[in-house]
Amino acid sequence: MAKQILLRGGRVVTPQGVQRLDILIRGEQIAAVQPDLMAEAPLAEVRDVDGFVVLPGLIDVHVHLREPGGEHKEDFTTGTCAALAGGVTTVFAMPNTSPPITDRATFEEVAARAAAKAVCDYGLYIGATPHNAEEAATLCRQAVGLKMYIGSSTGDLLVDRFGAQIEHFERYPKDGIIAVHAENEEAVQYYAARGQHRPPICAGLATAYVLALAEQTGHRLHVCHVSTAYELTLIHEARRRGLRVTCEVTPHHLFLTTEDWARLGPLGKVNPPLRTPQEVEGLWSLREAIDMIATDHAPHTLAEKQGASPPSGLPGLETMLPLLLTAVHEGRLSLPDIARWTAQRPAETFGLARKGRIAAGYDADLTLVDLDAEWTIGNEGLYTRCGWTPFAGRAVRGRTAHVYLRGRLAFSEGRVLAEAGSGRAVMLE
Ligand code: NCD
Ligand code: ZN
Ligand code: ZN
Ligand code: ZN
Repeated sequence: MAKQILLRGGRVVTPQGVQRLDILIRGEQIAAVQPDLMAEAPLAEVRDVDGFVVLPGLIDVHVHLREPGGEHKEDFTTGTCAALAGGVTTVFAMPNTSPPITDRATFEEVAARAAAKAVCDYGLYIGATPHNAEEAATLCRQAVGLKMYIGSSTGDLLVDRFGAQIEHFERYPKDGIIAVHAENEEAVQYYAARGQHRPPICAGLATAYVLALAEQTGHRLHVCHVSTAYELTLIHEARRRGLRVTCEVTPHHLFLTTEDWARLGPLGKVNPPLRTPQEVEGLWSLREAIDMIATDHAPHTLAEKQGASPPSGLPGLETMLPLLLTAVHEGRLSLPDIARWTAQRPAETFGLARKGRIAAGYDADLTLVDLDAEWTIGNEGLYTRCGWTPFAGRAVRGRTAHVYLRGRLAFSEGRVLAEAGSGRAVMLE
């Protein structure tokens, strides 16, 4: 019989609220969640988790793990260790690597590396190019989605012409998700020539455009890193008309502003850029329209960020959860909001049938947090290979204490316990 573990007395976060419940784990899955399971499972190893808040393991649908080609900044092991340290048990890796993941051979090669090196569960996107619509479509069962950059960002992936875009929207299977980096390339170049980095109109134009593409073709759409209230409003309206569209917002667009960018300089450079405090307030006020929080974890080394042409991107895996928990203490969010945004909606959207909830039959992916731990985020002790965070110096309240991945304690008290290769590719239904 599979090993049984009884987590006793945690404050378990479910869509209904926060309740004191026991969780019985059998093998890799949750067997039962009830107020008192001691009598039910006499053979289980009992672990007292009284005092911890138990969240469903976080699912981050947007990370850059830099493998292959960028292993000096991150690889599948360091990036997934950072994930576990941040309470994240599943990551979806982006294809803007070198070479980019845009054909079957590269996809399979990268999948093999992930299988050998990841310490948390993972999925991979296939990247869209102007010429790979046919081949990308054949990968829709293995990939978690098709990633299309309609505006340029880090790497060379770009599909900024209508003909190529429509080909992908028509060919990629209709139950698959097209995830889009929505900034208008012509506007990006126009402002770059005038010394301005991607003002809000770049994102606004592109999101309006890609919503039209999705609506006219009837395709599912996921808009990456929405950074303005205008985009959220458009997405909300499109959904009310019946369009199957979802969106993510990053922690940096919710917890940093242009004021931080002024202080951070090139370390604060990201696509889409950090927004004004008023714009960030606008995002918060429309938070009901947000489907999920995803980090867009995009590590670059300090030397690169401080060099002559600093790349865009910020690491985020290890800081997302403490920032969200701090917002709970401030009364801006609830614990069920966090569970919905970081686990339930990502799982439902992308079709991870056994993840995203703490309920019988689901994978035992569990993130136990010490809600009242007060600490200051710093650059020391991070698992991400880039070794810095734009949130250094920020006082937060709430910390990842223990993380279970499919029934095994994978992270505990600051240490990653899972071995390389114990992460598994997700299956979509
Ligand atoms: C990302 C990266 O560095 O890979 N950079 C960023 O500024 N967000 C690419 C991306 O997500 O656009
Ligand atoms: Zn992007
Ligand atoms: Zn990204
Ligand atoms: Zn409190």
